[in-house]
Amino acid sequence: MQFGTKSGILEKARSQCVVVGVYENNHFSDSATLLDKASKGFIKKVLSRGDMNGKIGQTLMLHDVPNVTSPRILIVGLGNIETTDGPKFLLVAKAMIGALSKSSAKNALCCLLEAKAGTESDAWKARRLVEQSTAGVYAFNEMRGKATKADGTPEKIDFLIAKSGASKVKKAIIEGSAISAGIDNAKDLGNMPPNICTPTYLADQAKLLAKNYQTLTTKVLEEKEMKRLGMGSFLSVSQGSDQPGKMIIIEHKGAKNKKEAPHVLVGKGITFDTGGISLKPPAGMHEMTYDMCGAASVFGAMRAVAELALPINVICVLAAAENMPSGNASRPGDIVRSMSGQTIEILNTDAEGRLVLCDALTYVDKFKPATVIDVATLTGACVMALGSHPAALYANDDELADNINAAGENTRDRVWRMPLWDEYQPQLNSAFADMTNTGGRPAGSVTAACFLARFTKKYRWAHLDIAGVAYKAAGSNKGSTGRPVALLTQYLIDRAQEAK
Ligand code: BES
Ligand code: MN
Ligand code: ZN
Repeated sequence: MQFGTKSGILEKARSQCVVVGVYENNHFSDSATLLDKASKGFIKKVLSRGDMNGKIGQTLMLHDVPNVTSPRILIVGLGNIETTDGPKFLLVAKAMIGALSKSSAKNALCCLLEAKAGTESDAWKARRLVEQSTAGVYAFNEMRGKATKADGTPEKIDFLIAKSGASKVKKAIIEGSAISAGIDNAKDLGNMPPNICTPTYLADQAKLLAKNYQTLTTKVLEEKEMKRLGMGSFLSVSQGSDQPGKMIIIEHKGAKNKKEAPHVLVGKGITFDTGGISLKPPAGMHEMTYDMCGAASVFGAMRAVAELALPINVICVLAAAENMPSGNASRPGDIVRSMSGQTIEILNTDAEGRLVLCDALTYVDKFKPATVIDVATLTGACVMALGSHPAALYANDDELADNINAAGENTRDRVWRMPLWDEYQPQLNSAFADMTNTGGRPAGSVTAACFLARFTKKYRWAHLDIAGVAYKAAGSNKGSTGRPVALLTQYLIDRAQEAK
């Protein structure tokens, strides 16, 4: 789907559908009023029958409205004009794309930038319309026996703009499109089944990505190399699987100064998490195909960064391995040495995410990073604590936490900051090693973050536990959500802006 801008006389527009908003109690937006006037009150007359009254989520498709060139007018409910806000605008955008994709209009002229959304700008609204429209038509059909395509997807949506302020909207469309492509990419990786999406597959995808963008280069550390580097913690996870583990590094050199400190993203890429010898119960185990969604999200953000050619340096690292039980798998009780030199007593082989991440986090210190953010479906406890709305945010630096929070609020890809207090650290005490890999049941998401904090003391670091937000386990929109690609990319767009 493509997005663009148009200006001109609305009733003469040649688009296959014109989209206008109406607030609650049939309070007409400017564009709706204009079309109503052109049609000599036709729209008001139709709405007075009561088929829709402007509530959010409502839509009504009108055909062949008199004196209007476009064959269709889609009326979208904008809700109460007094109480509009950003989150409600997302529902408006969703309703629009839902109705458009049910119609056979191949293109549309969207007049919803004029819709009030609290204090949000036109550019903000354009970004959301692009993102919601792309998300609204996403489908994962790659694994069907026969090729399937979604028929109703419009090819192009243009936003009606007044000439002034157009440049900001145009920039928003470019950013929204790049981020949406990144989100789609992350969803595809997340949804790809674990028999295909192995660590090797992720490495191949990274190489493919780097082929498509000039600023990108990839490097893949194989197990042999990781062994040489002393990554005993990572390897204790991958050793149980026939699939070799991979540490995948993608580098974007966008800054004028090639030596400028990079922003580093690290993703948990467990392509399937059985739990290992501490085997998970069967009922929900299939969900662990999504245990590489952290890696998928940093991959998607990287794609967006490259697409936007952001003038900063960014490096992402995908810590990719499969967690399987086997004769070679690590046992509860094993003690391993991490790349940092710290030893870990593995009390539960199902706490494998932190084991692969800690070595990746030690490894990235060599880049002398400006900031490091790791993203991981790390704990079931996080889902219990926060559910599926925000990701849990942990940080050893307040400014970094604030910047991530701001990017999350802006994109509505939100986070909630959690404590990373030293008081929790004793839960990781081990009788024989420097630490255990589990902190017991209380505050499981916090103690997982506290574990990672022991490996990230040398730089400004944040951790996002996305276990609750990365995927929907069931229902009509089952599958990977592509979160937090939007947050991560916005965070980096903001850093690029700052660098100017
Ligand atoms: N990948 C899981 C966490 C998870 C659970 C993600 C549910 C999404 C939904 C992780 O590897 C795991 O198994 N964590 C354990 C840690 C425990 C053994 C300390 C957990 O949360 O139970
Ligand atoms: Mn696990
Ligand atoms: Zn896991």
